[in-house]
Amino acid sequence: MRKYIVIGNPITHSLSPRIHNHWMKKYHLVNSIYEKRKVEIKNLKQIIKEVRDEEIFGVNVTVPFKKSVIPFLDELDVCARETQSVNTIYKKNNKIIGANTDSIGFGDTIDDLYPQYGLTAKQLDEKHIFILGAGGVTSSIISALKSKGGKIIISNRTKSKAEELKKLFPKIEILDWGKKPKICDIIINTTSIGLIEGEKINIDFSNYNKDKSKLFYDLIYNPKETNFLKDARLRENKTKNGKMMFLNQAKYAFNIWTNILPDIDDEVIKLLEK
Ligand code: ATR
Repeated sequence: MRKYIVIGNPITHSLSPRIHNHWMKKYHLVNSIYEKRKVEIKNLKQIIKEVRDEEIFGVNVTVPFKKSVIPFLDELDVCARETQSVNTIYKKNNKIIGANTDSIGFGDTIDDLYPQYGLTAKQLDEKHIFILGAGGVTSSIISALKSKGGKIIISNRTKSKAEELKKLFPKIEILDWGKKPKICDIIINTTSIGLIEGEKINIDFSNYNKDKSKLFYDLIYNPKETNFLKDARLRENKTKNGKMMFLNQAKYAFNIWTNILPDIDDEVIKLLEK
């Protein structure tokens, strides 16, 4: 049996098993299974040992271990090194490798948005992108956007965490929490605010009323529409949730483990809506 797991804490709500088990069945990987496991930081060493011993063939890593798992790995891929964030682990040539597929997953999503929102890669060059949060996934978002141009401004309640990110990406600008930049075209929520129903980000975007050129993007996809997106929709701004990014990162993780690049078809998309 080839076992794959997603580790995190909390982990109950992870939809990764649903997606990966669906693909494993679809692509006839009959002896494969994907499970979730709630872990503590003290368990990380043992999990990597299980990968080394081939008791586990692949691991997805979610909040809050994307960074803390790094010391237990032998090598990082280029993106994991740049972002200091790992979401996919596997064994190759007797080494335990940490990869980051969040970044390319988000990058693909943004690419797909260009035609839908009348953007081109060139236009993104002139965009001001305002990122809220500096948590585990934020470096992946910055890394994906960096290659597409644009000016990146970041704001986090705990400013020191934004400053840590600036060490990795010196070109980003930092703004105090609660403020917004004079100009911004794309606003991305990478905080966990909105995961719990009713939570709200206290930044006033009301002067964007009826401005259809503004895109509000929330990494959260469950709930489908956070207050951040609902308020934007009511203002008639453009909105998008994190569903496709989640599916894209899963697609690339699956590809690393199996060499199969799975389809993101309607059937998979529907699995997230159950
Ligand atoms: P971690 O910080 O451990 O990586 P995360 O879930 O990846 O955890 O990130 C949570 C993000 O949401 C952080 O940017 C966090 O801000 P802090 O760094 O100040 O903690 C942000 N966040 C969560 N709750 C928040 C709140 N009530 N107000 C403002 N920001 C919040």
